[in-house]
Amino acid sequence: MAKQTYPGSGAASVLVLAPAGAVADFLTDALADSQMSWKVIPSARDLSQHHIINACSLVVSEELLEPPVVEQLRTLLDSQPPWSDIPLLVLVAGGQDTPDSQTREHNRSPLSGATLLEHPLRPGTLLANLRFAQRARERQFEMKRHLEHTRLAEEALRKSEKLAVAGRLAASIAHEINNPLESVTNLLYLIRNATSLDDAKQYCELAEKELRRVSEIATQTLRFYRQQSEATRLDVTQITDSVLSLYQGRLHSHQVKVVCDYRTHASLLCYAGELRQLVANLVSNALDAMKHTGTLTLRLRDARGVDGRDGVRLTIADTGSGIPATVREHIFEPFITTKGATGTGLGLWVSAEILRKHEGSMTFRSSTTPGRSGTAFSIFLPFCEVLPAQNTAAQSSSGHAQGAAASAAA
Ligand SMILES: Nc1ncnc2c1ncn2[C@@H]1O[C@H](COP(=O)(O)OP(=O)(O)OP(=O)(O)O)[C@@H](O)[C@H]1O
Ligand SMILES: [Mg+2]
Repeated sequence: MAKQTYPGSGAASVLVLAPAGAVADFLTDALADSQMSWKVIPSARDLSQHHIINACSLVVSEELLEPPVVEQLRTLLDSQPPWSDIPLLVLVAGGQDTPDSQTREHNRSPLSGATLLEHPLRPGTLLANLRFAQRARERQFEMKRHLEHTRLAEEALRKSEKLAVAGRLAASIAHEINNPLESVTNLLYLIRNATSLDDAKQYCELAEKELRRVSEIATQTLRFYRQQSEATRLDVTQITDSVLSLYQGRLHSHQVKVVCDYRTHASLLCYAGELRQLVANLVSNALDAMKHTGTLTLRLRDARGVDGRDGVRLTIADTGSGIPATVREHIFEPFITTKGATGTGLGLWVSAEILRKHEGSMTFRSSTTPGRSGTAFSIFLPFCEVLPAQNTAAQSSSGHAQGAAASAAA
């Protein structure tokens, strides 16, 4: 009778693939006297990936290994996850080489890596081989646990890093709201001390304008963050305009001229809050690079990606200091910053992940040559019918560089 202690119980688990008969009886009798659990599977059709992943070894009777079954088994074994390589033991008939044995050998040849045990064999020999296989398999399970642990740790790290970037955007928002509020405080002081009603009215008008700006920043931010978890269709200019509006104060104080050259208003399926975070980081980087005066150009065009998909291309170009040659190759890596304590170096790294989720790509050109320095980031966003759901495990640790194909020009 079969004892079933898997999946994933950690106990030994032997899969016996043998039709009812003498070999199956021998195997189950031998296993009955061991501490191992087992399951008899009479036909390869009943064997699943789930069985294979959770068991410690697979023992197959050669009589089953006709070419279609071998093919079926090979497909199952080849589709194991990277950590898994289940030990395969095949019970073959012993004795002299005959045309029949050669045919069977030829039939099972696609199952390379199998351990062959000549039957009849002693139960003790079978069990010794199974215990050896079990030890090897337990190391694979250990590797699986380790990989899972690392994946969870990386996911947690990425989430906390995303939060750090979101925190910086929140700080920019607070900063932009603080400026008009300070003006309102000053204006209220002036109103209180105004000598004429006309003066007071004029200050009131200015105060109203500043408060409208606060309300505009708050409304836009809320609108985009409501669209954080659900993909929506929208015109990318809505995102660029809202970012420009957010950075109005900094653009003004850095004396930066803004040129918007939009030649498309095509609507795109996207996570609007995330795309806004991406554009905000690129605009913020451009502003950091243009400390005193400059031009910020935002260009939007219909475009076709290298894979032939239609979409839009957004270019954000500045006339700032340019990206130093020493960091150019690394700017999409986490924690790469030239801004000391004021930068976390996560903006472009998170931007690359956001782009990966939108199946987009990003390239850049930059020059530090005095007199004609500047940087242009070019983002391609394809028209997608669906996007991966938020917070899925699909965010592999190797995804960032894939999302952003970076190219630099001196
Ligand atoms: N437009 C740009 N002009 C000049 N340098 C840039 C520009 N964009 C990016 N960089 C360089 O790339 C580095 C990495 O940028 P990233 O946005 O990832 O991080 P950060 O801006 O330093 O910090 P954070 O975005 O986390 O606040 C920057 O520190 C800067 O050296
Ligand atoms: Mg940045």
